[in-house]
Amino acid sequence: MTDKIFQEAASVADFSAINQQYAPFSVRPQSPDDDEWAENLHSRVFGPGRFARTAFRVREILPADPELCLIAQFEDKRVGSVWMTPISLGSQNGCLLGPLAIDPDFRSKGLGKMLVKIATNMALSREMYEFVVLVGDEEYYGDMGFLRAKAGTIIFPGPVDPNRILVCSQRADHAKNLSGNIL
Ligand SMILES: CC(C)(COP(=O)(O)OP(=O)(O)OC[C@H]1O[C@@H](n2cnc3c(N)ncnc32)[C@H](O)[C@@H]1OP(=O)(O)O)[C@@H](O)C(=O)NCCC(=O)NCCS
Repeated sequence: MTDKIFQEAASVADFSAINQQYAPFSVRPQSPDDDEWAENLHSRVFGPGRFARTAFRVREILPADPELCLIAQFEDKRVGSVWMTPISLGSQNGCLLGPLAIDPDFRSKGLGKMLVKIATNMALSREMYEFVVLVGDEEYYGDMGFLRAKAGTIIFPGPVDPNRILVCSQRADHAKNLSGNIL
């Protein structure tokens, strides 16, 4: 699915190989001390309309998995954040990825994709999660193993462009077969 180094590091929740590869950037799980910083980043990046966005709506209903919410740093400075929220679709359990946000001063350095790959591999390496779903651009997420879901089959608690619902799973047919309300 994605690079071997990400799979290995994620499966043992050991970021050292990734951090060596990306130095001076690094990644680590988010802690409660980061909550205010992440809020400020979201406010800066998504603006006041962010609470109408689907990932934020789901987060209002369901708690995120703190072990899968990650922070990217440049040296000691926090520069990116991704959240993962456990969800279910019918009888299948997975995660919703988002929001994903990178500090505008640190974009196009591979940090967004780094966070997506690590968080996704960490989730899928756990038996309890069968898929990762998100609302985003196929052009950006496609080369990280995300495939477009069948339009109209996955129902979010809010308006979503059905063509932007993307799924990553260990099973190639999964994106086309998932259906139900996100709970
Ligand atoms: C989207 C975002 C997370 C990407 O972060 P990043 O660290 O710059 O991403 P990467 O460095 O991994 O990849 C950058 C590349 O992806 C491209 N890219 C960024 N957003 C894209 C999109 N929506 N669709 C297609 N390509 C996109 C960039 O143009 C860049 O291309 P380049 O390397 O040729 O310049 C960041 O731009 C951001 O925080 N945006 C605002 C919040 C947002 O839209 N979040 C995603 C919600 S789905």
